[in-house]
Amino acid sequence: MYVLTLVTQKGGSGKSTLAAGLSVAALRHAERVALIEADAQGTISKWKERRESRYPVVNCVADPAEVEPVLARLEADGTWLAIIDTPATNNSLSMEAIARADLCLIPARPSPADIEAAIPTLIAIRKLNRRFAFVLNQTPPRGGRLSEAATSLNSLGLLALPFIAQRNDHQDALGAGLGVSEFAPTGKASAEISALWSWVAQHLGMEPMDHEQDAVKIAC
Ligand SMILES: Nc1ncnc2c1ncn2[C@@H]1O[C@H](COP(=O)(O)OP(=O)(O)O)[C@@H](O)[C@H]1O
Ligand SMILES: [Mg+2]
Repeated sequence: MYVLTLVTQKGGSGKSTLAAGLSVAALRHAERVALIEADAQGTISKWKERRESRYPVVNCVADPAEVEPVLARLEADGTWLAIIDTPATNNSLSMEAIARADLCLIPARPSPADIEAAIPTLIAIRKLNRRFAFVLNQTPPRGGRLSEAATSLNSLGLLALPFIAQRNDHQDALGAGLGVSEFAPTGKASAEISALWSWVAQHLGMEPMDHEQDAVKIAC
């Protein structure tokens, strides 16, 4: 089972939105996808309440000691991907979610304050010797600010592609209990999330599927 953790102590950077969007994009690969909600704010469980589909299944954890048994149970049930959504703080639960990850994704909006705020998370990930990548989220369609942000993040570590633009589909999908690729399958937000999923799948070491290679070409 692969474990992907969305983590940064900066609130509002898009951890929950990307966790939901990526989990649904991953369902095209195979259906046994799980989300683990490690944030008492409950964005993912509220999203799941609005959702009719069985997958992704959602498990909540409130204590670091719960993470390993939940992952073990999911793996025993045949889950092939678990995505952990974490709170906006570097607490012991976030540290455990990092420690269990095959890959950590650190979302950041393209502003110096957001990028600086990601650094304590980056230090924690490096201490735990986990693989990680930044993902630029809520980007404007174009502009110098974007390339400055991409350059800063590239100097700190790997930057996942493509950038995820600021688009209403993400907010509307979350409100409807859907992944953005279910909410507006032919939209740009869906193309970007599908391509980001393909990037993640590749960096987790999965064999790419044909439609995933196409998704990367379209959105990059
Ligand atoms: N790419 C995006 N485009 C538009 N809105 C977004 C995007 N990513 C996140 N949001 C919105 O920004 C807010 C914060 O996102 P959220 O995923 O809750 O952040 P976090 O989990 O890191 O605190 C939410 O209202 C969410 O819908
Ligand atoms: Mg959140």
